Amino acid sequence: MDKKEPTGEPQFVGTKEELITAQRSCRTIEGRDILIIYNQGVFYALDAWCHHAGAPLLTGDIEELGGKLCLICPRHKYKMALADGEGVYKATKPKEQPPIARWYSKGIKQRTHAVTETEGNIYVALSLSKSYIDSDSFQGEDGKQAREMKNAEARRDGLPV
Ligand code: FES
Repeated sequence: MDKKEPTGEPQFVGTKEELITAQRSCRTIEGRDILIIYNQGVFYALDAWCHHAGAPLLTGDIEELGGKLCLICPRHKYKMALADGEGVYKATKPKEQPPIARWYSKGIKQRTHAVTETEGNIYVALSLSKSYIDSDSFQGEDGKQAREMKNAEARRDGLPV
């Protein structure tokens, strides 16, 4: 594997003012591509490439779904909670009459990172969790190759790249 071990040290990513103005910003921290989002007064940091097939999440819509603020991937519309990267989906039970659509969890799919503010500056500390999370597949050099393959498929299918 080519991925570096994160230090967990807070890394400066910009001033609060500039990140609020931008609303969404991409940074590479210790070799990891991170998307920083400012939404409804809160900063979030999560892996910049979607856990499903590596699409950039930069332009994904944000909606409250099942009581959680979620980012929706532009490519295949997978949904993930901004706060903890939990994948969520809506489904009905086939035998339930009348069918009622409810939100369900797929577990944590997108790695999220800690954001802190000190004196008007914003810092991101990479997650130190050793557990594999699906979005890990699209980070680093191996991840870049995986993204390029998935991007080629998306171009062929006329999906956002
Ligand atoms: S839903 Fe994000 S790449 Fe498929």
